[in-house]
Amino acid sequence: MTIPVDAILIGAGNRGAETYGRWALEHPGDLRIVAIAEPDAARRTATASGHGVPAERQFSSWEDLLSFPQMARAAIVATQDQMHTAPALAALNAGYDVLLEKPMAHRLEECAALALAAERAGQVLQICHVLRYTEFYRRIHEMIQSGRLGQVITIAHRENVSSWHMAHSYVRGNWRSAGLSSPMILAKSCHDLDILCWLVGSRPSTVSSVGSLRHFRPENAPEGAPPRCTDGCPAAEACPFYAPLFYSDLEPMLRALTHARGLPYRVGAWLALHQPGLLRALAAVTPPLRRITEYDGWPRSVITGRPTDPEAVRQALREGPYGRCVYHCDNDVVDHQVVALEFGNGVSASHTMHGHSHDEGRTLRIDGSRATLLAELTWSRTLIEIHEHRGGRIERTVMPTILEQGGHGGGDQGLMRAFVSSLRGDGNQPVLTSARESLESHLLAFAAEEARLAHTVIHMADFRARAEQVGVAYLGHLKG
Ligand SMILES: NC(=O)c1ccc[n+]([C@@H]2O[C@H](COP(=O)([O-])OP(=O)(O)OC[C@H]3O[C@@H](n4cnc5c(N)ncnc54)[C@H](O)[C@@H]3O)[C@@H](O)[C@H]2O)c1
Repeated sequence: MTIPVDAILIGAGNRGAETYGRWALEHPGDLRIVAIAEPDAARRTATASGHGVPAERQFSSWEDLLSFPQMARAAIVATQDQMHTAPALAALNAGYDVLLEKPMAHRLEECAALALAAERAGQVLQICHVLRYTEFYRRIHEMIQSGRLGQVITIAHRENVSSWHMAHSYVRGNWRSAGLSSPMILAKSCHDLDILCWLVGSRPSTVSSVGSLRHFRPENAPEGAPPRCTDGCPAAEACPFYAPLFYSDLEPMLRALTHARGLPYRVGAWLALHQPGLLRALAAVTPPLRRITEYDGWPRSVITGRPTDPEAVRQALREGPYGRCVYHCDNDVVDHQVVALEFGNGVSASHTMHGHSHDEGRTLRIDGSRATLLAELTWSRTLIEIHEHRGGRIERTVMPTILEQGGHGGGDQGLMRAFVSSLRGDGNQPVLTSARESLESHLLAFAAEEARLAHTVIHMADFRARAEQVGVAYLGHLKG
């Protein structure tokens, strides 16, 4: 039996408790959570009891936890975007190897400072770039490396955020305002910019970008729409953003599940949409169906602490931020942005991020000198096609959908395996990003935002030098 790596958990919210904490519970031989910092008492005690963390190792803030001598090898930092730098730097200073949620930080100087601090300390700082660990992107990377596409010429990559996910996270939710969290291109697409660098095998030399907040504005509200969906909105029957559809009915998720490859998913989702009474009756004798009838995950778990209680969900919509009309929120992040990149090795790429998609996920096209690759990683289908130029042969690989594979198409699990393996030094699962490599994708996001706002082209060599300078200054300022 292997000895688990011990870790402290800073932030027991959606990612901390439900993704990384759950992975530890499912892999007791690999990871053990031995202390928790979380200000929300209910979350803290629930997570602590799940992991058997005693009262003296439960803390209401990371400052309290890190004031004690080092308690474990690793620290998982899963606080909100603007609260990453201080706990991550403090954990590195205290000797922990750190798994840090993306974005590394919401400011350029802090991202650079984090990468520098990890390098100076000689400790692991792994950023949660989960996409590199999905089978989907690993296969595409291998296909490029194998030379099957020939010389890669250009890539068109899209992050198609579904309209309801956009409404949940970037209009009503935690990432709605750059001032409260970070620009959407950083929050959502630092993953994609990282993937592009990995696939191309080179760093961009120039970046430009356009985009805006086009739709989720008061002037687009249906006539007579009240501040909340549940206040008798006259558009309730027709509006695609009517909140009960997402949280009470789970309609978009269930629709996506009806396309799953696995028959039980398809049947369960179809019944939930068309025969809910029959589903409830069947669930009474078929426990797997209760995963639908008693669904307690994202996004319901974000809006209430009692996600399986329909009345608690309704109350959250009547009183909380997620019941607000999408046209009457305090949001300011873009709902569409396009980034154009020119890489040092001559490859060009575009990345389009937007929040008006019928389906959630990523699509891409890579044109090479010998073949074109077309691929989709979405909630309703996952496939890679290679179309060869000579002879026209088409190879099609179909994989389980994101929902079937779980957490970011298997990326969450792969990331955790790699983190644990790197700390053990067993070489089983290599970590695919150093903090320095992760920094690059963040710099690209900051550069894209600067380019969008100033309508200019950013030269990355200058931008990197600027980031290094402000990072060094930031660390110097902390010491002084
Ligand atoms: N890797 C990915 O693909 C991915 C996906 C989603 C979110 N994220 C990122 O993960 C991070 C967390 O997101 P989330 O949805 O779990 O947020 P969340 O709000 O659910 O969780 C954050 C938790 O931090 C806690 N917290 C606040 N102050 C604290 C303190 N002083 N000490 C300790 N804990 C404190 C909060 O109470 C909360 O429970 C964000 O930065 C987000 O952008 C990453």
